Amino acid sequence: MKKSRILGVGHYVPERIVTNNDLSKMMDTNDEWIVNRTGIQQRHWFTPGVDTVTSMSKNASELALKRAGVTTSEIDFIIFATVTPDYFIPGNGVLLQRELGMGTIGALDIRNACSGFIYALSIADQFIKTGMYKKILVVGAEIQSSALDVSDAGRSSAVIFADGAGAVVVGAVETNQPGILSTHLHAQGEYAEELYCKDPGSSREVRLSPELIVSGSFNLTMNGNAVFKHAVVRFIEVIKEALDANNLSKSAIDLLVPHQANLRISQYVQNKLELPDEKVFNNIMHMGNTTAATIPIALSEAWEQGRIKEGDLICLAAFGSGFTWASALLQW
Ligand code: UT7
Repeated sequence: MKKSRILGVGHYVPERIVTNNDLSKMMDTNDEWIVNRTGIQQRHWFTPGVDTVTSMSKNASELALKRAGVTTSEIDFIIFATVTPDYFIPGNGVLLQRELGMGTIGALDIRNACSGFIYALSIADQFIKTGMYKKILVVGAEIQSSALDVSDAGRSSAVIFADGAGAVVVGAVETNQPGILSTHLHAQGEYAEELYCKDPGSSREVRLSPELIVSGSFNLTMNGNAVFKHAVVRFIEVIKEALDANNLSKSAIDLLVPHQANLRISQYVQNKLELPDEKVFNNIMHMGNTTAATIPIALSEAWEQGRIKEGDLICLAAFGSGFTWASALLQW
């Protein structure tokens, strides 16, 4: 039996920075509201014709591979978490495989929105532990800005979501080495429509029509209050579940890297767990909420800033559309 370990992490965000003041020219909003309610000061949005989910994930993956000291030829499998793939069909994993020239290795797409990266990491962990694969590239990447309603009607979602990509290389190590200790995955489909993008759905006469476009059903729709209320409960639950499963107390955590949904959610979780500021990593202030990409982007920035050291106990936790929520506990 092997253990899996994150060998390297990288990220890439589009060059275009969109500030809160930029948003206030598109819709009825303002810097004060956005900062007070979400903590976000600016975010990155893609430039059509320049950035794609594939191009961003390629850049993030190349950095993760370089930092891991691993070449593309050593990777056995790709797991790609995104709800905003470049094509409706096929998924984005195959596009990244082609772009990186990775032969005919398998590529799997995960559609679990904000929890997608932890779901993907968990699958990588299982494949490695069984001995099926030795090195897996796990990616979270999104272009959310093209599905946002930037009119006044969509302002509560439009100010939150953003674009970017993060990637990790997960490799097999001996069981006495640091690595992934556990993952816990949950879902509750009764709340699917509280945060969703209805179209292009398949169960209607036509997937695309001028009427559907005008109806706004292609835009992301969110009941922010409901998401917030469930998120703060589930974050705590799933982190405690991870600690209990490993007989660890919350004080053992060296760094909590929560999905960057809203700074107020992260702060609530931090307070409940009584963690000092240096034990929680947030970058939503300059990154916004990049859905499946928030955790690998945050991990990459935390690593660059020296906030993660070898052997540290890192807790990842996420909550989002589905609803789905998840945690991963690992020693770096
Ligand atoms: O990634 C995982 C999924 N997403 C999340 O975790 C997001 C969770 N939810 C949230 O982050 C928050 O619910 C939001 C930031 C989306 C909204 O904050 P809120 O404190 O729940 O505000 P609200 O929707 O209750 O709206 C309060 C007021 C309303 O005005 P009235 O009715 O009180 O006059 C809104 O119309 O704020 C208004 N409002 C805005 N005002 C300025 C909503 N959006 C905006 C805006 N700018 N962008």
